[in-house]
Amino acid sequence: MAQDMTLLGLESSCDDTAAAVVRRNGDGSGTILSNVVLGQADLHAAFGGVVPEIAARAHAEKIDIAVERALADAQTSLRDIDAIAVTAGPGLIGGVLAGVMCAKGISAATGLPLVGVNHLAGHALTPRLTDALPYPYLMLLVSGGHCQFLWVEGADTFTRLGGTIDDAPGEAFDKVARLLGLPQPGGPHIEKEAATGTPSIPLPRPLLDRPGCDMSFSGLKTAVLRARDTVVADHGGLPRARRADLCASFQLAVGDVLAEKSRRAIAETRAPAFALAGGVAANAPLRAALADVAADAGAAFLAPPLRLCTDNAAMIAWAGAELFAKGHRDDLTLAARPRWPLDRSAAPMLGSGKRGAKA
Ligand code: KG4
Ligand code: ZN
Repeated sequence: MAQDMTLLGLESSCDDTAAAVVRRNGDGSGTILSNVVLGQADLHAAFGGVVPEIAARAHAEKIDIAVERALADAQTSLRDIDAIAVTAGPGLIGGVLAGVMCAKGISAATGLPLVGVNHLAGHALTPRLTDALPYPYLMLLVSGGHCQFLWVEGADTFTRLGGTIDDAPGEAFDKVARLLGLPQPGGPHIEKEAATGTPSIPLPRPLLDRPGCDMSFSGLKTAVLRARDTVVADHGGLPRARRADLCASFQLAVGDVLAEKSRRAIAETRAPAFALAGGVAANAPLRAALADVAADAGAAFLAPPLRLCTDNAAMIAWAGAELFAKGHRDDLTLAARPRWPLDRSAAPMLGSGKRGAKA
C-alpha cells in the first residue's frame, strides 16, 4: 500500500482565489482537510463579466491569505505538507501567474516539491477525490470556459471525444442572464427563474442533427435574444412570467443538447461510469437529465457536491497528488500557460471565452 501524502493546492485561473489541503490516503482515497475559496464576484459585478486585470490583481493580493487560511483550517503547517500543487493553466494568464509565482515562492523557501496541474485535469479527476472512482470513466466537463467529453484513463491520460465549437454552456448561461437583466454569474439565477416558468418558447437544439459529440451554444443564445425581442414587442416590456419561461426554455434546450450528446458519448465509449464536473454541473435539472441518460445506458452516474463543481483548490491538490504519486515533479522553470489542451492529440477548440481560454 502506498504511503499517505498531503498536498497544498493553489487555484487562481479565473475569478476564484483558492487554496486547499488534501490528503491522498495509502488506499488511494482522498480526504479534504481544508478548502478555502475567496470569490471575486463583487469586484466584477459592475462590469457584467470577469475583467482579467482586476482578477489578476485580486489573486496577487489574496492568494497568500488563502494559503494561510487553508493551512490553519487544516490545522497543519508547511512542515506537514509533502508537495505543492498549483494550477499552471489554462486560464486568464495574470491569475495563473499569481498562483504559480506564489507556489514557486513557497517551494523555493521550503524546498517542497512543486507540481503544475492542468485546471481541467483538476475538474476531470474530482470524482476520484469524492468517490474513489476507478479508471476508466467518461467525464462531461461543463463550465464557464469549457465544455468537453473526456475519456479518462489515468491522471495524465485523457482523450477528448468532442466539445463545444463556440461558447461553453456556462458562458451561454451568463450571456443569456445578461440579455434578461439577471445578475452574474448567470447560471444560478437562470436556474432559479426557470423553476417558476414553463419551457413553452421554441428554441433550437444546435448540432443535434450532426453525428458525433461536438456541441454549439452560441446560436442558442442568439435565439434567446430574438425570442426576448418578440416578447418585448408583444408586451411592451419583459413581464416576469415570460422571463421565467425564457429561462426554462433555454435551460431545457441546453439540457436536451447535453443529454443527447452524452447518450452518444456513453454509447461510443461503453463507459462503465459517467461523471460531471464544472460549474454548470451545479444545475439541478441538468444533473437530473444527465443522471437519467446514464441510468438508461446502465452507466454509474457521479456528480460532485456543488462546492466541488465550481472552481476550487481541493481538486488541484488532488490532481497534484495523483501526479506526484506517479513521480511527476516540476521546478522553478514551471510556466503559466493560457492554453493547455488536456488531450494533446485532439484538434484545438475554436475561440477563447470571456472566462479564459478554451482548450
Ligand atoms: O467551473 P466554474 O466555477 O468556472 C470555470 O472554470 O468556468 O464555472 C462557472 C460557470 C459560470 O458560467 C456559471 O454561470 C455556471 O458555471 N454555473 C451554472 C450554475 N452555477 C454555476 N450554470 C447553470 N446552472 C447553475 N446552477
Ligand atoms: Zn473551472
